Amino acid sequence: MTTPHTIAVLGLGRMGGALATRLTSQGQDVVGWTRSGRAPSTVRKTGDPAEAVARADLVVLALFDGPACRQVLDGVRDALRPDTIVLNTSTVSPAEATAFARQLGPSYVHAPLLGSVPAATAGALQILAAADRHTLDRVRPVLETLGTVRHVDDAGTAAALKLIANSGLAGAVLALRDTLRQADALALPRAQTLDVLELGQLGGLVARKRPFLVGEPPTAEFTVAALAKDLALLADASGTPLRSAAGLSGTAPEADFASAATAPAPDAAVLEPLRAYVRGHATGDPAHFRDAFLPTAHIEGVRDGTFVSWRLDDYCALFPGHPAPDEPARTRRVDSLDVHGTVATATMTLVHGPDTFTDLFLLVRTDDGWRIANKAYHRHA
Ligand SMILES: NC(=O)c1ccc[n+]([C@@H]2O[C@H](COP(=O)([O-])OP(=O)(O)OC[C@H]3O[C@@H](n4cnc5c(N)ncnc54)[C@H](OP(=O)(O)O)[C@@H]3O)[C@@H](O)[C@H]2O)c1
Repeated sequence: MTTPHTIAVLGLGRMGGALATRLTSQGQDVVGWTRSGRAPSTVRKTGDPAEAVARADLVVLALFDGPACRQVLDGVRDALRPDTIVLNTSTVSPAEATAFARQLGPSYVHAPLLGSVPAATAGALQILAAADRHTLDRVRPVLETLGTVRHVDDAGTAAALKLIANSGLAGAVLALRDTLRQADALALPRAQTLDVLELGQLGGLVARKRPFLVGEPPTAEFTVAALAKDLALLADASGTPLRSAAGLSGTAPEADFASAATAPAPDAAVLEPLRAYVRGHATGDPAHFRDAFLPTAHIEGVRDGTFVSWRLDDYCALFPGHPAPDEPARTRRVDSLDVHGTVATATMTLVHGPDTFTDLFLLVRTDDGWRIANKAYHRHA
């Protein structure tokens, strides 16, 4: 057999629906199946995935995750012929991709996609294709109707590269969120802010996602749930902390990932104990520290080479009740604040004369409002 001529697309969600529509519009003989039965009217459908697979030379998977791929493949296994090519566009973990490649052998193509629904519709995707050379040659004409093919050595590497690309995407959307919050705090008009951001490093994201960043967002193209899934897969695979993995929590899972850039800033109430803490330093009056901290708090760090752990009373006793002589020259700022329901972490930089301190806070929302549960600090040389 040469180039496949009947294509079964399993999974007709956002991406599968767009792929099937594009392939159909390019004259391919496409039959689609999706678990829910919900699919675009542009795609010919069947209610039985095994029937779709039995008719096909090429089976395209566009499923949410690895377990969905496993479940669907197990269900159609008996309908697959030895020369049927399985082309998996789903974003799965490197270990899952490697396992599918091992199980299906030379007829498996792992082909995660860079680009979203508009790129699929326009045939402008970037396709990271890992396959046996002969198999890739057979599917290349079909893939080229969807976008540009980039050959990758093996399925695990293709899956890992896809996750890395999405880590970049998540970082960009969270950078955009920080930037829009700063613009809002300066009362800058949203439209003008976006115009300027379109000229800079976040320009591509802002231009593509502008409708999601103003007013009523359209239907999601790539959901928060799917991006969060990818970040969890990446953090698991790398065993390396991934700050953005927690950054998406708080945005509705079915919203487009770009909506995460418009998530409102945390409730200002969480800043109250940090402001009381700043007042304590500014005035030297320990009463402000008692407002800021829980009575059980500890303040810990390394002082002159020795670890110290003060209870709140010990800490308050360090302050004389009046400002430091150089108070007008001292500065303090909150650098980061991450709220997770009833707990939060914050980082602050204090420049006190020749000393610069980094303070790390753990905060808790109690019945009496937010309080600092503990502080650890580092004094920079
Ligand atoms: N959307 C994008 O921009 C984009 C871009 C690149 C890559 N991707 C990746 O492409 C894949 C599909 O994404 P998507 O945005 O199209 O997601 P989606 O809209 O949520 O669609 C997911 C599809 O998976 C099916 N599915 C989920 N669990 C299943 C299960 N256990 N058994 C059978 N079918 C199951 C759904 O079926 P029903 O809904 O019919 O139940 C649906 O067809 C994901 O791996 C995603 O990470 C997406």
